[in-house]
Amino acid sequence: VSTIQFSQIVVPDGMIELGIGQPDRSTFPIAAVRAAAAAAFDVHGEYLQYGAEYGDGHHRLALADFLTRTYGFRVDPELLYSTNGNSQAIDQISGIFAKPGDTIIVEDPTYFIARQIFADRGLQVVDAQMDSDGIDIDALGAQLAALRSAGTPARFIYTIPTFHNPTGRTLPVGRRQQLVELAAQYECLIVADEVYHLLHTGESRSVPPPMSAWVDSGYVLSLGTFSKIFSPGLRLGWVHAASPLLEQLVGSGLIVSAGGLNPVVSTLMTPMLHDGTVEDNITSLRREYANRIDVMHEALHQYVGDLMTWTKPTGGYFFWLTLPPGVDGLHLRRVAEQHGVGLRHGALFRVKALAGPDAVRLSFAHYQAADLIEGCRRLGSALGEAIHL
Ligand SMILES: Cc1ncc(COP(=O)(O)O)c(C=O)c1O
Repeated sequence: VSTIQFSQIVVPDGMIELGIGQPDRSTFPIAAVRAAAAAAFDVHGEYLQYGAEYGDGHHRLALADFLTRTYGFRVDPELLYSTNGNSQAIDQISGIFAKPGDTIIVEDPTYFIARQIFADRGLQVVDAQMDSDGIDIDALGAQLAALRSAGTPARFIYTIPTFHNPTGRTLPVGRRQQLVELAAQYECLIVADEVYHLLHTGESRSVPPPMSAWVDSGYVLSLGTFSKIFSPGLRLGWVHAASPLLEQLVGSGLIVSAGGLNPVVSTLMTPMLHDGTVEDNITSLRREYANRIDVMHEALHQYVGDLMTWTKPTGGYFFWLTLPPGVDGLHLRRVAEQHGVGLRHGALFRVKALAGPDAVRLSFAHYQAADLIEGCRRLGSALGEAIHL
């Protein structure tokens, strides 16, 4: 039997895998991409050459205009570096701004694959405490001080400030400001993974500014990606940061040898940034995800509402649910699989076990309403069984 795969995740027939943090195919703007390809790939074919190190100039100009419109403040095209998405950016930053053995700080819990990237790069990861408003700034200050006096200063803080993965929490504007002040005080960079920032379901006014608003401090690298607002197969994103930081990324052997990371794909995206296709797509995703959140919130109430607790998300991809005392998330995951529903258990996102009750993460991005409801029903049966085992 061939083991060749045609996509990253293959879900067994009949299974509803609410653990998957990927968009579903129904949201992909396929017709727009096909039309843009015909228009974008002109006969001069410059996009087939090694590209400019910071990324294609036309693309950076279009991206800066797009970000200026959607973020609501001016983004300078000179301060954008075009990447293969946030995973690649996190990996490259981990190699350039830290050396193996150096210490960095992450939120507890955090995106589990970022933990893997930091481990690949040989970094020592210290967990920062969170509360319902995201990273706890006082505790972080004490940690930064302790690390500095121990001779192991933190090189950077990796944070997912808006619609955090896995908790869905958003750092308020005041804490963002304090975070930047701490970074300056301890000369520690902030690597802000802003992957879900534009995926809010309410008014944009209700979302604090992205960390991108603080790049002038010289301490912030804001990582953006088209993966969740358009399609992950593009492998296209950007870093917004002050010039001295970008110069280090672009001066790396990787870029000196390869040139820009994505001449073809960025050429494809440029007309769709100009003509509003990307913004229209974001508008339609917001509507779709707002509806899925409502559906899932209702279904969870119906099937697990007296046993689990959660905060209804206002954006991003995830519900983070606290389990009844004594129920282990990994155990529930195994039981749930037998009931035909997948989830991600809390321990995946953290190093040390939670002191209190465990938690699990469910995504509403990969399935449409009917499957979300059925998945929650199965979860309810699984939870009933897990409690009694
Ligand atoms: C917090 C976070 N960062 C990065 C990524 C991956 O982003 P990209 O596709 O741009 O590499 C994800 C995707 O799940 C994510 O949740």
